[in-house]
Amino acid sequence: MEFENIILTKEAPIATIQLNRPDVLNALNRKLLTELAACVEELDSDESVNCIVLTGNEKAFAAGADIKEMAEADTIDMLSRDSFSVWDRIRGTRKPIIAAVSGFALGGGCELAMMCDIIVASETAKFGQPEINIGVMPGAGGTQRLTRAVGKYKAMEIVLTGEMIGADDAMRAGLVNRVVPVELYLEEAKKLAGVIASKPPVAVKLAKESVLKSHELSLKDGLEFERKNFYMLFSSEDQKEGMKAFVEKRKPKWKGK
Ligand code: HXC
Repeated sequence: MEFENIILTKEAPIATIQLNRPDVLNALNRKLLTELAACVEELDSDESVNCIVLTGNEKAFAAGADIKEMAEADTIDMLSRDSFSVWDRIRGTRKPIIAAVSGFALGGGCELAMMCDIIVASETAKFGQPEINIGVMPGAGGTQRLTRAVGKYKAMEIVLTGEMIGADDAMRAGLVNRVVPVELYLEEAKKLAGVIASKPPVAVKLAKESVLKSHELSLKDGLEFERKNFYMLFSSEDQKEGMKAFVEKRKPKWKGK
């Protein structure tokens, strides 16, 4: 597949997608998001890939949705563009996605990072939902995922003031998994992706699905969902292999089946 606004690098079992509109701090226009959705869908069904890293560049992960593309739109334009269907496609990825964030992750950029499963940040990362400064509010999950990640009070401050928070604050608030020097953020994300990619892929997918369900279901329904996925893994060859290898004191060889 040919892309203009993203760069895909496959180093099986990891794939890295780099957002590539550096002149506009990787502002997320429709073309970029459509390419990104197509790319993650393709990787989701590529058996050689177990984990995806999504990154920008040192200066910006992404500074938000492309403001110039939206500036003149009215409600009906926004509705008929159906911009969020591409976000839904990205959200539907069953393989884990690690965001490697340096520089600005603002508005839709912060929301895109939060749509990933793990966030590795450089010390220079800045997260924020500045939509309030341009007359709107978060629209791709900022009021929901951010609140679940950092709690009501911190989320309210970030959304209502539009102010950015640095990597260390984001780490303390529970928004990022780890903070590393800028020269290491991508390497660190890939290292983590390597660890996850070495695990049995079916169990990884079902575990991701179950953790995400905790945001949607009551505890009772979530526990039932988890239990069903747990039972389901007992018909995988990797469950037999994993447990047999433990008993035989050797390393398991995963088949992804
Ligand atoms: C379009 C953008 C952009 C954006 C930056 N640029 N952010 N273009 N949409 N979101 C462009 C600038 O116009 C400029 O282009 C170039 O990138 C460099 O940006 P500067 O502003 O000159 O850089 P700097 O002074 O370093 O300031 C960085 C910044 C600022 C603080 C990140 O660019 C900024 O505030 N950007 C907007 C952030 C924002 O409001 N994001 C939320 C968007 S709404 P030129 O051509 O002038 O060189 C949103 C809603 C999502 O995300 C809802 C879901 C769809």
